Amino acid sequence: MADPATQTATTATTTTPLLQAENLTRHYRVSQGLFKPKATVKALAGVSFSLQPRQTLAVVGESGCGKSTLARQLTLIEPPTSGRLLLGGVDAAGASKSALKALRQQVQMVFQNPFASLNPRASIEATLNEPLLINTALTQAERRERIEALLAKVGLRSEHLRRYPHMFSGGQRQRIAIARAMILSPAVVVADEPVSALDVSIQAQILNLFMDLQAEFGCGYVFISHNLSVVEHVADDVLVMYLGAAVEYGPKTRLFAQPLHPYTRALMSATPALRAADRRERISLHGELPSPLNPPSGCAFHQRCPLAVARCSVEAPLLRQVDGRQVACHLVAASG
Ligand SMILES: Nc1ncnc2c1ncn2[C@@H]1O[C@H](COP(=O)(O)OP(=O)(O)O)[C@@H](O)[C@H]1O
Ligand SMILES: [Mg+2]
Repeated sequence: MADPATQTATTATTTTPLLQAENLTRHYRVSQGLFKPKATVKALAGVSFSLQPRQTLAVVGESGCGKSTLARQLTLIEPPTSGRLLLGGVDAAGASKSALKALRQQVQMVFQNPFASLNPRASIEATLNEPLLINTALTQAERRERIEALLAKVGLRSEHLRRYPHMFSGGQRQRIAIARAMILSPAVVVADEPVSALDVSIQAQILNLFMDLQAEFGCGYVFISHNLSVVEHVADDVLVMYLGAAVEYGPKTRLFAQPLHPYTRALMSATPALRAADRRERISLHGELPSPLNPPSGCAFHQRCPLAVARCSVEAPLLRQVDGRQVACHLVAASG
């Protein structure tokens, strides 16, 4: 992570990205009540990015902006409504059933709540053994060897294998969930708010564990968080989402040194530890995220944006390249 010599989203690369999302879109049809027509929630409204090996893309935005929906697309839990997703250069949409099974192995997920994501009736050994049993031809002894080696890497011991999830603390459970995600050596791990449910004192340990495992296994991460201090710690690239779409996307160093989108700046202003980095005027965020059932006209952020002008309420800004990142705002002056 955070190695300036490695490639980032905005530099041309020759290696095949681990993940490539092209205008990924997900709509949900929802009932509005008896006798009312169904409505469409545009949970994900066209998101594009690419992820290179050993890189971490952090996805940030308020609750309800579509982060978990994006995670479900990337992990092939549900198909996109439109757009394309390539895993290691392979289009998930065209994949046969067996190819899809292989692709699913390549993208594993770590959820926010390790209490809910681990089966309470399965011992840790059973939890870690199951993916190996289903997906590999390893012998029992080989599986046990792989499980013990990984267990040590996530900071647990062999005697923990016989225990059940309720016997562990939240941090230890998240270590187990991380081990389960890593056991098949996936190319990508999508982590959806993986430290948000943990004590602050434990969060840094778990973040460091993520970073150590990436250094060791070389996997890519899509790291979802609403906490910019966490993002600053782990990210190479940052994708800031608002109402299902990217408003700013580029290398972390660029975004943190000089956030350009008023929404990115507002998020940074709201993070005390980062205020020093945001040397521009403070922008505070008022009001709530609008409903994706009834998104605002023009720029989705205009009703909450302290800088909005008349154009913002009628014309949706497109992402364009400004100062080494992409940004979708009419008011950001184009520059090199
Ligand atoms: N299965 C679903 N059916 C209907 N609406 C959904 C579904 N999943 C998510 N949504 C809606 O999509 C939007 C984005 O949700 P989500 O991806 O969970 O956001 P986040 O993870 O950023 O909090 C929200 O308005 C949410 O209510
Ligand atoms: Mg979520």
